Amino acid sequence: MPSLLRRKSLDKIIQEHQAGLGDHTESLRRVLGVKDLTLLGVAAVIGAGIFSTIGKAAFDGGPGVIFLFIITAVTCGFTALCYAEFASRVPVAGSAYTYSYVTFGELVAWIIGWALILEYSIGNVVVAISWSAYFNNILHAFHIDLPDYLTIGYNTAKMSFDEAAKNHLAPTGAGLIYTHAPRIAGWPFIINLPAFIVICLITALAYIGIKESKKSANFMVTLKLVILAVIAVVGVYVIFSNNSFSNWSPFLPNGMTGVLKGVSAVFYAYIGFDAISTTAEECGNPQRDLPRGMIYSLVICTAIYIIITLVITGMVHYSEFQGKTDPLAFVFDKINMHKLGFVISIGAVIAATSVLIVYQIGQPRIWMSMSRDGLLPKPFGRVHPRFQTPSFSTIITGLLVAIPVLVVDDGLMTDLTSIGTLFAFVLVCGGVLALPMVAKQPGRFSLPYINGQWIIPVLFVLFAVLFRERITDDVTHLGTEGHEEILFLVFILISAIIAVQSFVKRYSLIPVLGMLCCMYLMIEIPVKSWMVFFGWMAVGLVVYFLYGFRNSKLNL
Ligand code: ALA
Repeated sequence: MPSLLRRKSLDKIIQEHQAGLGDHTESLRRVLGVKDLTLLGVAAVIGAGIFSTIGKAAFDGGPGVIFLFIITAVTCGFTALCYAEFASRVPVAGSAYTYSYVTFGELVAWIIGWALILEYSIGNVVVAISWSAYFNNILHAFHIDLPDYLTIGYNTAKMSFDEAAKNHLAPTGAGLIYTHAPRIAGWPFIINLPAFIVICLITALAYIGIKESKKSANFMVTLKLVILAVIAVVGVYVIFSNNSFSNWSPFLPNGMTGVLKGVSAVFYAYIGFDAISTTAEECGNPQRDLPRGMIYSLVICTAIYIIITLVITGMVHYSEFQGKTDPLAFVFDKINMHKLGFVISIGAVIAATSVLIVYQIGQPRIWMSMSRDGLLPKPFGRVHPRFQTPSFSTIITGLLVAIPVLVVDDGLMTDLTSIGTLFAFVLVCGGVLALPMVAKQPGRFSLPYINGQWIIPVLFVLFAVLFRERITDDVTHLGTEGHEEILFLVFILISAIIAVQSFVKRYSLIPVLGMLCCMYLMIEIPVKSWMVFFGWMAVGLVVYFLYGFRNSKLNL
């Protein structure tokens, strides 16, 4: 009877990798260097987040939201170091999926692979919807307006219509589209056509090959960096010439509570640096270059986010960002620099396009690894003989993203993306703790060991003291507390267990801090999204027991 805890041996994976063995005789092209990887990271990270969700975070937290950008960057930094450690030890494609296969075993690996679909495919649904909104702005500037029922998803229109009906109001905006859209068999015909078309085009690009995709990604990331640099330079000039420094006061209008409200929006903006690890088999020197690419791209993105946040909150008072989904274009429109606002819309489309490319490339490579392990049917691992890309998986990824973008709303999708990604991050950080110690090797990244024996318990006690009133209140009213508070108590309990374990086993500090920070961000995500997340994971388990468990290569 095969065990649920069976795991792949690290040595075997590395042997297979070095000898080019396994049952895959065709391999991918090794064309990526550290510069490409860094650009790929920046391409994956800077997208809908900085161009859209930053507005909500700035409205809730004021200029002080830069602290949240720093906190999230530190969290992602811990995780990036853990990814880097894994990437240097397990230099094959597959991301967190492959890493957890060697540390926690097959079942957890499958769970992670399934959760990563949320990050890569569902994440791309959100980006495609944002792409479509900005693209429609550009078309509008050229006096081309698509019928509005072809510009948003059915669910967005329906939700807006229902909301108005609930409040006995006449529908406006998206809700109005619901009322006047053409009907097919009585159903309003409302689809997001531009989002669908862009996903089809990008899927074709990903199918043709990594080299071609890489070239396009490099071009687009360079262009979006130039546009962001222009925003920063012009913005600083405007702040100085208008002497609008008073917008930064108060810096924390709603205190840290307001800042922390933006957790999901800000975390979403950081998602993507880990996507680099899926290209391990296309790197010249994965052990050296993958860690560098990940950390460089994270540092670059953090600097950009902090500068852009300070610039936009310096140009316009934070309170004006309410409901703004295009905050970067908005601040320049506000000071009558409409042409720059238009250029920014182009930048947003380019940024979103490069993010779409990275994820449409990343997802099929994870499935390829899962298929090689027997957890998914063979076609998922098929490499195209001419283009040398995972052809079948690329097409399925295209369908998985293109069909939902026609109809879904992006709110829940953003939460699901964040929760799935954080879940994967927690297990990657935890996985590093389970890796055997190895001697340092020159030219390879190695995670610095800092003994967490005392530091982690002390940090836990400090946290508990800081939140003592909330903890006491939650425990006293346990039976009547809302789900959010139950999640908070579960977090405290898990942290306490980890603190004790750290004391006993002298855990390495960085992975533990990575785990705890990611878990804290997770509990900030609304309970409604947790329910959908659990449902998704339950479906994943059914698929595993029906197929993967029986067909796993570890059965042989
Ligand atoms: N971080 C990516 C973005 O902001 C997902 O678009």
